[in-house]
Amino acid sequence: MAILKIARLGHPILRRRAEPIPVAEIRSSEVQRLIDDMIETMREYDGAGLAANQVHTLTQVAVIEVLENPRYPEAPVVPLTVVINPVVTALAEEMEDGWEGCLSVPDMRGMVPRHTAVRLECHDRDGLPVSLVAKDFFARVIQHETDHLNGIVYLDRMRDLSTLAHIAEWQRYALGVREQAD
Ligand code: NI
Repeated sequence: MAILKIARLGHPILRRRAEPIPVAEIRSSEVQRLIDDMIETMREYDGAGLAANQVHTLTQVAVIEVLENPRYPEAPVVPLTVVINPVVTALAEEMEDGWEGCLSVPDMRGMVPRHTAVRLECHDRDGLPVSLVAKDFFARVIQHETDHLNGIVYLDRMRDLSTLAHIAEWQRYALGVREQAD
């Protein structure tokens, strides 16, 4: 496995649409290696998710995972989910504001409105069809990652750019957290 280089905002690949993978190719060693490398890269950089565009590959693959973190006991846990060729349908008209960051927009946070519930239809890494309903934070991450596969970043979804903040200032002023000792 390998840790991949992450494209940052301004790299044109973040603005291109990724291509679907033929289902028969999902189990190929090439696609399986890409998935493994994306998981390792996401974990290395403490991302909640990673889309293939972000590692310079225009195929419709994203990985999502939120592990328990003792520093953020309130953060919901999302099990490792591999998303291939996703179709996302909003199940709630309602949009909820929440903070987002992105490994391609390092050290920034912004307030982004997202649907509170979505249906995700996709394939998993074995090539099997998946259909699930996701709510709240999991729904948010799905929308963020599938946006990447369509060339969209979270900044495009923000209603109010005045909430955009560097992470240290965000912790201090938006969360009201004093600088962490560790
Ligand atoms: Ni992102």
